[in-house]
Amino acid sequence: MKVAQKVAIVTGGGGGIGGAIADRLADQGAKVLVADLDPNAAAAVADGINERHPGSAIAEGADVADTEQIRRIIERAETEFGPVDLYFANAGVAGAPGLDADDADWDLALDVNVRAHIRAAQQLVPKWTERGEGYFVTTASAAGLLTQIGSATYAVTKHAAVAFAEWLSVTYGDKGIRVSCLCPMGVETKLMRSGENSGDPLGVAATRAVVSAGEVLQPAQVADIVLDAVDREAFLILPHESVLTMYRQKGSDYDRWLRGMRRYQSSLLEHA
Ligand SMILES: NC(=O)c1ccc[n+]([C@@H]2O[C@H](COP(=O)([O-])OP(=O)(O)OC[C@H]3O[C@@H](n4cnc5c(N)ncnc54)[C@H](O)[C@@H]3O)[C@@H](O)[C@H]2O)c1
Repeated sequence: MKVAQKVAIVTGGGGGIGGAIADRLADQGAKVLVADLDPNAAAAVADGINERHPGSAIAEGADVADTEQIRRIIERAETEFGPVDLYFANAGVAGAPGLDADDADWDLALDVNVRAHIRAAQQLVPKWTERGEGYFVTTASAAGLLTQIGSATYAVTKHAAVAFAEWLSVTYGDKGIRVSCLCPMGVETKLMRSGENSGDPLGVAATRAVVSAGEVLQPAQVADIVLDAVDREAFLILPHESVLTMYRQKGSDYDRWLRGMRRYQSSLLEHA
């Protein structure tokens, strides 16, 4: 899809990968609603865009764990700019480190990393099928294809995010709905560093696993790759090519892959 003149919503757009995607969308001529739990961060990104492209961005503080707040950002984008063409379900939480994650930890991870996607799609896809066009972009993670050492909540919810994106594409792909699923490994953001700062050895291992498994990219590099994939309407977006190799290894010999992951985790915990 060409994004020029289109209307886009980016959740978790107050910085990191979402902020960079919002920037690139506006650079390519889209109108962007930047939504974030942190309203000041969302406003700062929108202000930066409007300095370069006056009138191209608006900001909303919104918690995507809440269906009504998702409804509000969609309505605001429609009122200001017109029907929403692209929705970037990008907001995410790192999750709790171990098996002692409680129900509240699981609920938060499920709400933000998965249910937020489902709830947005429930509101947008019926309108898109009527119009015959719409684009849903999920920010999952390499953890959604492989796993996340040090965080069950993250590994499980990111798998679910990939599964939901796949299901959307299978079910609505022939009705004009485009779906892409971004699965990066390390990207230099607050979220990537959150395990390192958790004081929990598993949390420290979670960040180390991501940082030492491959190159850590900058959000702007990832945003360029995302916009290119959207232009080509490619489903799987892998900014780190090595993720495809690892994904193939997992599929071709699961037990060998699990043994390798256990060895990798031990080495990370030894140095945690
Ligand atoms: N950084 C990485 O290494 C990496 C790797 C793979 C996937 N991801 C995914 O990329 C996405 C963006 O994260 P990032 O790395 O740019 O981190 P980030 O911390 O820079 O951005 C995440 C943003 O989401 C917002 N957010 C959190 N909960 C929210 C909620 N309930 N409602 C609205 N906004 C909320 C935060 O305020 C923050 O601005 C996440 O889904 C993350 O899981 C990141």
